[in-house]
Amino acid sequence: MTQVNQTAGSVNTEHAKLLAWVDEVAGQCKPESVYWCDGSQAEYQSMLDTMVASGSAKWLAKDKKPNSVLVLSDPADVARVEDRTFICCEKEEDAGPTNHWKAPDEMRAILKPLFDGCMKGRTMYVIPFSMGPVGSPIAHIGVEISDSPYVVANMHTMTRVGTKVLDVLGADGEFVPCVHSIGSPLEPGQKDVAWPCNADNKYITHFPKTKEIWSFGSGYGGNALLGKKCFALRIASIMAKEQGWMAEHMLILKLTSPQGVTKYIAAAFPSACGKTNLAMLNPTVPGWKVECVGDDIAWMKFGKDGKLYAINPEAGFFGVAPGTNYDSNPNAMESLKENAIFTNVGLTDDGDIWWEEIDGPTPDHLIDWHGNDWKPGTDVKAAHPNARFTAKAEQCPVIASNWEDPAGVPIDAILFGGRRASTQPLAMEASSWQHGTFLGSTMASEKTAAAAGGLGELRFDPMAMLPFCGYHMGDYWQHWLNMGNTPGAKMPKVFYVNWFRKSPDGKWLWPGFGENSRILKWVCDRVDGKGDVTATAIGNLPTIDSLDLDGLDMPAEDLKQLLTVDNAEWLKVIPAMRDHYAKFGDKLPKELAGELDALEARLKA
Ligand code: GTP
Ligand code: SPV
Ligand code: MN
Repeated sequence: MTQVNQTAGSVNTEHAKLLAWVDEVAGQCKPESVYWCDGSQAEYQSMLDTMVASGSAKWLAKDKKPNSVLVLSDPADVARVEDRTFICCEKEEDAGPTNHWKAPDEMRAILKPLFDGCMKGRTMYVIPFSMGPVGSPIAHIGVEISDSPYVVANMHTMTRVGTKVLDVLGADGEFVPCVHSIGSPLEPGQKDVAWPCNADNKYITHFPKTKEIWSFGSGYGGNALLGKKCFALRIASIMAKEQGWMAEHMLILKLTSPQGVTKYIAAAFPSACGKTNLAMLNPTVPGWKVECVGDDIAWMKFGKDGKLYAINPEAGFFGVAPGTNYDSNPNAMESLKENAIFTNVGLTDDGDIWWEEIDGPTPDHLIDWHGNDWKPGTDVKAAHPNARFTAKAEQCPVIASNWEDPAGVPIDAILFGGRRASTQPLAMEASSWQHGTFLGSTMASEKTAAAAGGLGELRFDPMAMLPFCGYHMGDYWQHWLNMGNTPGAKMPKVFYVNWFRKSPDGKWLWPGFGENSRILKWVCDRVDGKGDVTATAIGNLPTIDSLDLDGLDMPAEDLKQLLTVDNAEWLKVIPAMRDHYAKFGDKLPKELAGELDALEARLKA
């Protein structure tokens, strides 16, 4: 490898703690060299060149996807690994029933021999990064150490990297230390593989007390791009509780009516349940405009007016590829036209990418994500269901002009939602912040390919944070309630949506995607105290007349089904909700237990 051009000694920082930490990690991991990232375009290009030279990436055809590469991972490293993800706080009860826990000392004892010499024969990259606009009062800084050029390139797109971050950090600024290794040292003369990893020894670990992240063995997504789920959600959720703000798995969108009135909506849907799609949708309702502020994570702090102001801590999209096309998400397709990294998608004979449901006819021949020949009718998918594209947010045609406003944007409404083939109606509204917190805490969704294992199975995924809350979920719900009880707080109105209802023969009942703008319009009406509702036992539903359904060609029967609450069906869900709540013991806020009792009483009335 030839990319060694800097060492800790020549880097432009006087941050003694950072320099000492980098030295210490280098001493432990024993890389061949240490490289400090400056965040330049030239550096990004050199990472791609390095990956292509080593055989881990392939250039796509310049006339198809300029300046873009395809990367195929090891088939044993394709998604987040929730069962290998640990919260290492002092007491098990503080991690709670939804997290895997290990005592910090015990985890350090496991990690020590794994990290010892784990970067032999490789370059250790030091990546200073800012989550959020550099210098924003809502932003926070991290430094990731990684032995993967793929991680460096992805971090360049997903966060703000380099010298400008070190400048803000100064000589003694705070940073979250994030250590990542693919766990695959190279002996002298040993030939590297295309996607080195350590599939049998993955550890994604978080230390709440010292706010550190140590990740070993995986090079993929949220396991390896440590600014994303590990920092911006798990560690940040702990910081947010300590400091009185919120770190949430939410998209942020800006919605402007034909009259020019702008509202901001945040939405928490579980992984692969439609955040990227909703964040940049093209509305089918005439005259309405949607612009994107963020597609995955929101950090929200109170403004002087008592409203929650949100920033998108990320700078790019790490989006689900399969299913993305010019119909379902034209703005994502435009965002990934160039300067993109594609992971685990198919490769066409003319050097373009391909995945299931992308536009146009299926090619007669492809190389699939396993690197094998593929043709229509082959019984494996060409792209892995969790295949992803990495693209800069600034390449999105509908990125909001103020998406990088350091002050954030004021949130008017929060939507919850998941994949529910039955029971859950298309849309409903909570009667209060407390009721909204209850709805979020009992959110359930069918499992997707974004995490390893158990596809399709229904699980409770409170606030879409099940895999991402860095502490006891009961304390997290209490934090939600406390935020609402803050003097002067003007909390967003809360809604629950479900784009995924199916008919008995398995077809989507709701057309979804751009048509979801019809529900967003109703949400805006409700925020303004307009629009009609039908009161039901579970909450207020839109009346059919209150929805703008102009030009929507769908059977009246389907609409009726989407907006009906079947009390008998809901009563059958109550025992599962009680079991879910029982897991949180004493930490279940009594207000939420009260909401569940009240729901049951209303259903029985
Ligand atoms: P993460 O990046 O994993 O957090 O996922 P995400 O929440 O951003 O999910 P994304 O928007 O990428 O959507 C994932 C899948 O849901 C894709 O296959 C989409 O086609 C599908 N999807 C998104 N919106 C809709 C919708 O309104 N209706 C239906 N039926 N499918 C949708
Ligand atoms: C998710 O799973 O919610 C993602 C993808 O956004 S990953 O970054 O891999 O966590
Ligand atoms: Mn996500």
